[in-house]
Amino acid sequence: MRLANKVAIITGSSSGIGRAAAYLFAKEGAKIVVVANINENGGKETASNITKAGGTSVFIHADVTKAADVQILVKSAIANFGKIDILFNNAGIGFQRTPVENIDEARWDQIYATNVKSIFLCTKYVVPEMRKNGGGVIINTGSMSAIRPRMQDTPYGSAKSAVNLLTKSLALELAPTIRVNCINPGPILTDMIQKGPGIKQFERDIAELPLKRAGTPDDIAFAALYLASDESAFVTGTTINVDGGRGI
Ligand SMILES: NC(=O)c1ccc[n+]([C@@H]2O[C@H](COP(=O)([O-])OP(=O)(O)OC[C@H]3O[C@@H](n4cnc5c(N)ncnc54)[C@H](O)[C@@H]3O)[C@@H](O)[C@H]2O)c1
Repeated sequence: MRLANKVAIITGSSSGIGRAAAYLFAKEGAKIVVVANINENGGKETASNITKAGGTSVFIHADVTKAADVQILVKSAIANFGKIDILFNNAGIGFQRTPVENIDEARWDQIYATNVKSIFLCTKYVVPEMRKNGGGVIINTGSMSAIRPRMQDTPYGSAKSAVNLLTKSLALELAPTIRVNCINPGPILTDMIQKGPGIKQFERDIAELPLKRAGTPDDIAFAALYLASDESAFVTGTTINVDGGRGI
């Protein structure tokens, strides 16, 4: 097993990509800390499905945009499993494309808090635990919108671009004991699409893709597994595009 005896915190694992990663990491031997704020039932379901399948998991309710919640999350992870080896900063929210003059200020702040600040907070409180344990791995979630912006998607694309840069910045700072990498997913059919750009826009996006299909949460989970495992031991500060060719 590729993650035997590892402990992984996966934020936003009540659905979509985070849930797929939780199942895959558990299958590879990791103990999973499932984290979400909204969709608490989904989070509990992820954790209980892992346990039913013979794995080890706990659900912790936390809003990753709030320092107090993240501190409780880290304390609970240590109380349950004694260490943290892997942090997958996956929680994020999408954006309904809007002309810049109509973007609501509070929505802008929420996009940045959930997609960017959450990574700062989780890293800040997890790093001391990883250091005690001799090191660890952090995986961040960007988007192809960070590299090839979509029309009227400024807050989301620019926030994910910040995630690409903060990955390099943290990789430099936390080496050599902690590796930090990022995944830029292309279009993946999850709850975020329904709540964000919508299914019609999604279908138009897929039609333009060289690989001519939507990505699946597992497509991203497999890349995350590589970055979480020792197979990527010489990889830090990089971003992998898992995107059906959208970046070409
Ligand atoms: N689906 C796509 O096409 C796509 C493309 C590029 C990037 N991404 C990124 O992938 C990641 C996962 O998204 P998904 O597609 O699986 O969507 P999703 O909506 O299924 O999952 C998002 C998860 O984040 C959690 N979350 C949101 N705000 C939170 C908060 N404040 N605190 C704690 N948890 C919170 C939700 O509970 C949910 O579990 C996001 O960062 C998203 O931006 C998705």
